[in-house]
Amino acid sequence: MACIIDGKALSGKIKKNLRVDIKELKERNVFPGLAVVLAGDDPASKIYVSNKEKACQELGIHSKVYRLNSDTNQAEVMNLIEKLNNDSKIHGILVQLPLPGHIVEKEVIEAIDPKKDVDCFHPENVGRMLSGNGRMFPCTPAGVMEMLKEYEIEIVGKDAVVIGKSNIVGKPMAAMLLNAGATVTVCHSRTKDLKAHCEKADILVSAAGKAGLITADMIKSGAAVIDVGINRSEDGKIIGDVDFEKVKDVAGAITPVPGGVGPMTIAMLVKNTILATKILSL
Ligand code: GUN
Repeated sequence: MACIIDGKALSGKIKKNLRVDIKELKERNVFPGLAVVLAGDDPASKIYVSNKEKACQELGIHSKVYRLNSDTNQAEVMNLIEKLNNDSKIHGILVQLPLPGHIVEKEVIEAIDPKKDVDCFHPENVGRMLSGNGRMFPCTPAGVMEMLKEYEIEIVGKDAVVIGKSNIVGKPMAAMLLNAGATVTVCHSRTKDLKAHCEKADILVSAAGKAGLITADMIKSGAAVIDVGINRSEDGKIIGDVDFEKVKDVAGAITPVPGGVGPMTIAMLVKNTILATKILSL
């Protein structure tokens, strides 16, 4: 039976440490501030954003959510970003993705001041991360790396398989594992033989968003299995990509859904906001 990687507990520990940083900043009259831009009414995005807002409230960080209608135009979004870039009370800017289809996402992301880019999606920050000089890292992969560290899962020389090639999770996850010394394979929806790749993985990170994709027969005995998927089952429950009940008997370590990667993403967002605050104000 695998060790269950408790993302909720670890995120609590990280947030506890961040409270100390926040207190020190406030003693110097620096009050960390996060702006979240939510355009449209994607139900999942609404939940993610409200969780981010709650975490800021819990830790005493100033946060403001800008809710824009789904018919908002490019100029409105760009003007808001410009305003937030110039707002000294705001240290972190997060534009929740996906944006409505008619908005050019790339243009919006590139408009964010890289110093305030707490998602680490701006090309300057992506470049720094790729070349191993990152200051901040995208929240979900950063959360995964924290989990591997906390549970002393070796990365150097290990075979890591990442499923998913998104800019939010798959690609930065692969870069971070590579920079940490793993041999990395990135699989995606067009991969010919997913099972053959997974079977070789010492570390398997699934960010496919497909319930039931990862079954026990695909797992190498003792592997670390990190489930980034958030899916809804037929009976309305939140489930990951991994068949947790069966895979846990083969894996060496495994993250549950919920209570695994999700809370870590939020903790990393707060961490990045504090880091951005320090970069901008100290
Ligand atoms: N949509 C899904 N995950 C994320 C994330 O980590 N950041 C942003 N901005 N949008 C997302």
